[in-house]
Amino acid sequence: MAITDHPISEPVPEPPSRVEMDESIRLIHDNAQRIMTWDYTRDREALVKLYNKAMASQWNSVTELDWATDVDPEKLVTTNPSPVQQIVAAAVQLPGSPIASWGDKELTDAGIEFMKASLSQFMHGEQGAMLTAAKITETVPWIDAKYYASTQTMDEARHTEVFAKYLHEKLGEAYPMNPFLDAQIMALLEDSRWDIAYLGMQIIIESLALAAFGDMLRRTDEPLLQKLLRYVMADEARHVAFGIISLAEFYEGLTEPELKERQEFMIDNTLRSRSRATTPEVWERLGVSVDEIVPFLHEAAAQRGLSPQAQFQRGFFAKLVPNTRKLGLLDANDGYLRRAWEDAGLMEYEFADDTAADYESYDAVAQDRAAAVAS
Ligand SMILES: [Fe+2]
Ligand SMILES: [Fe+2]
Repeated sequence: MAITDHPISEPVPEPPSRVEMDESIRLIHDNAQRIMTWDYTRDREALVKLYNKAMASQWNSVTELDWATDVDPEKLVTTNPSPVQQIVAAAVQLPGSPIASWGDKELTDAGIEFMKASLSQFMHGEQGAMLTAAKITETVPWIDAKYYASTQTMDEARHTEVFAKYLHEKLGEAYPMNPFLDAQIMALLEDSRWDIAYLGMQIIIESLALAAFGDMLRRTDEPLLQKLLRYVMADEARHVAFGIISLAEFYEGLTEPELKERQEFMIDNTLRSRSRATTPEVWERLGVSVDEIVPFLHEAAAQRGLSPQAQFQRGFFAKLVPNTRKLGLLDANDGYLRRAWEDAGLMEYEFADDTAADYESYDAVAQDRAAAVAS
């Protein structure tokens, strides 16, 4: 059976079946069918090349990261404060502010909490990626893609593990999964259509991850976190390429109504990811009412011309929009997605980046190994 003949089943029935067993376990029902293939022909050259690259660029989280590094959490968040920290500091000065009594110590403590919250979402997102990559291994019909998704499952295990270890050993207690990220990933794990797991994870969430990790990497001079992020990003860039190479082929064979479903999915998910900026869990832990602080944060941001998400969003859309173009999703159905994103001001990014081909340039693992051999 050619891949383009592969049946597209209906979206997941509502309501999705998820059960919280206790505080530490959730059951998730996957509506997708597993596929075993008897066709072992290696005829997708781009995927073969990517799989070989993935094998060569595996890294060891125990021996290649220096966990003996002494991390000072205060220095970590005061060397180069994030836009959110700058907004909070400005909110202290506003008349009537609920955090008017805060001094340097409280601001530093808040900075550490925001850092922990970000790293916690990275950790939960990586576990979601590990489960999604395992699902893709099971549900994709092509042997070359099954091989590749297996290497990605290992990559994502390593990513989950290093973020969990960094939090646990260097910073302290993690935060629960953010409801937006939770909803986004659970939907992928439940969906009956194998390509939706790809589209949601490899194209949307991996682009988000590259932008978020890049944002943190630009700000930090802590050597362990720097190397950890560079190595994780080296893997993520390959994962995005995997999605583009696979889906570009699959979407060539879909009908316009089937492509419309995917376009709707992109619109829905990009709008949802745009509203992820709020972090009520941090304010709760700091003992500040979210309802009371939010208007002051907005005012402080407007006053200083700061946007907590601006740089991150630029990075995200600079990857997402060009990648979506390569899948043929912008212009199907008379440019349905192009028009929607034009209205949201996103089409300026159409030719911004090229993650399908530039994963080599992200390969910090290969670069470090070459430098070690040369010296
Ligand atoms: Fe990852
Ligand atoms: Fe990934």
